[in-house]
Amino acid sequence: MSYETILYAKDGAIATVTINRPKALNALNPQVVAELGQVFAEIAADAEVKVVLLTGAGDKAFVAGADIVSMSVMDPVQARNFSRQLQEVTCAMESLAKPIIAVVNGFALGGGTEIALACDFIYASDVSKFGQPEINLGVIPGAGGTQRLSRLVGKNWAKELCLTGDIIDVALAKEIGLVNRVFTPEELMPAALKTAKKIASKGRVSTRACKELINFGFDLPLDHALRLEAEAFGLCFASPDQKEGMGAFIEKRKAEFKGSL
Ligand code: CAA
Repeated sequence: MSYETILYAKDGAIATVTINRPKALNALNPQVVAELGQVFAEIAADAEVKVVLLTGAGDKAFVAGADIVSMSVMDPVQARNFSRQLQEVTCAMESLAKPIIAVVNGFALGGGTEIALACDFIYASDVSKFGQPEINLGVIPGAGGTQRLSRLVGKNWAKELCLTGDIIDVALAKEIGLVNRVFTPEELMPAALKTAKKIASKGRVSTRACKELINFGFDLPLDHALRLEAEAFGLCFASPDQKEGMGAFIEKRKAEFKGSL
């Protein structure tokens, strides 16, 4: 499939999605959001892809938010539909059976922070900045920011960020648990690729189960979530990767996971 506002590259089991509107700091207009939906559907159907990297084109921004020019002329119904379109894409990213690493290389503001929050974790360059500045535009986050941010960093930090609209540097973003790891701009993509390759070397069934249980068990009562964990643990034993992983340990060799989903 071909895209106009994103670049899609595949190298074996690793797919890289680059949001490509550098002149507008990769702002998310309805076309970008639609194409993100399409590319994640393509990735979901591609058995070869095991891990995804999501980044922004250029050296200034990951994504500087939803496109303010497009939003400025929306009526309430269009704005509501745009918010739902963004939320559907972020939900599809969370539901994807393959981990997505956000590779944040500059501004991740508004919808940029929100798209990164829908990834499985965030690696960022040391020049990156995060924030939910929607309040400065007279609106609120509309791509999950009031919900995913509070679930990740806690309600108080989420409220401070959403209520002040402050843009924070990467050191504070790491301190509050928004960002996993920080690199120089040059080291960022190689480091993300190294982690992606490590994850891609694991079994598909167990990778998917980890992502789904952590994402969808988190808001369940603990005893319910633990039951789901036990079911998924049992399911892993239906995969050839369990035989391979345990067999390799006993035979003192490196496991080669080749199972399918
Ligand atoms: N939408 C549309 N265009 C944007 C944009 C956005 N979110 N962010 C930046 N741009 C455009 C600028 O208009 C500018 O275009 P021109 O060259 O045509 O004038 C270009 O990108 C470069 O930006 P700046 O000249 O502003 O660059 P800067 O270095 O001076 O500032 C910035 C960078 C601090 C990120 C600033 O651009 C900024 O504040 N951007 C808006 C950030 C924002 O408010 N994001 C939240 C959007 S609302 C949202 O996301 C809602 C939601 O949750 C769904």
